[in-house]
Amino acid sequence: MKEKLQQIRERALQEIHESKELGRLNEVRDNILGKKGELTSVLRGMKDVAPEDRPKVGQWVNETRAAIEEVLEEKIKKFQEEELQRKYKSEKIDVTMPAKQAVKGNLHPITQVRNQLIDIFGSMGFEIYEGSEIETDYYNFTALNTPQDHPARDMQDTFYLSPEFLLRTQTSAGQIHVMEAKKPPIKIISPGKVFRSDDDATHSPMFSQMEGLVVDKGISLCDLKGMLDVFVKKIFGENTTTRLRPSYFPFTEPSVEVDVSCFQCGGKGCKLCKGTGWIEVLGAGVVNKKVLEGCDIDTDVYSGFAFGIGIERIAMLKYGINNIKLLFESDLRVLDQIDDN
Ligand code: DAH
Repeated sequence: MKEKLQQIRERALQEIHESKELGRLNEVRDNILGKKGELTSVLRGMKDVAPEDRPKVGQWVNETRAAIEEVLEEKIKKFQEEELQRKYKSEKIDVTMPAKQAVKGNLHPITQVRNQLIDIFGSMGFEIYEGSEIETDYYNFTALNTPQDHPARDMQDTFYLSPEFLLRTQTSAGQIHVMEAKKPPIKIISPGKVFRSDDDATHSPMFSQMEGLVVDKGISLCDLKGMLDVFVKKIFGENTTTRLRPSYFPFTEPSVEVDVSCFQCGGKGCKLCKGTGWIEVLGAGVVNKKVLEGCDIDTDVYSGFAFGIGIERIAMLKYGINNIKLLFESDLRVLDQIDDN
């Protein structure tokens, strides 16, 4: 019996020694120590052993089992440890590797410029009024001192929706809504889309404007000029100055065209300013008394100035874009280049 146990022990140790992986070790364990294993069947055969020998044989069996188990457990542990190390190695993260580049989007150039304008005028205390894109003929023209057969209507090719309704051709329409709703002092900007039947390299049937309106006691052209000087420095750079040229708009009197000194050549003359040193950027003026009176504002007490800025025009000038279509074609090669916010 002792010999048999010795044989089982030696074979078991041999098999454990030769096992190359965890699965094989489990097999060995089942074959020897399992329910139907060799050692277990020796124990079952105890009934055939003489009663006086049983304690001794029992002890041998237990010793054999303990010896095999010890070696087996040790090897299992070793395999498990190796397996863990392999896993660590294969799942290793190199924290010094550069991170994957996240592609960052940016705001559309028109939105960027609009936000810049809102920031600048907001810091000067202007409130924002958002008008609607569909307007009546009255707000878009008549109340702005442009009655039905006024020649100034020819300045803007209008999309009429009906004899009464139209797509607003200018954010100036918002001036009237604000003055009807609120008594002076008034200090608003009104950004938004406007529409005109016009289509070439610098005009699009849909574009964006920002209107400005200030009405208070003693407002004059000087206030307009002073505010514009601050504005152009902020948007085009510290060295930019303004120049006013006489112009005509029905809703302002006097009316001016505002030029800025060329921010590219500093006024010497270049391609951008067509050699003149000046670039036209917006229209403005002192609010026509007829417009104020139409809104029940006492012109003996109050006066105002107004201005209208073309947002695409500012974006094209600032970012060197020569065709307005580039702003509407959603070409990421163009849009990615402009990230100014
Ligand atoms: N509404 C004019 C246009 O679309 C721009 C403009 C000019 C607005 C003078 C004004 C202004 O408020 O005073 O051409």
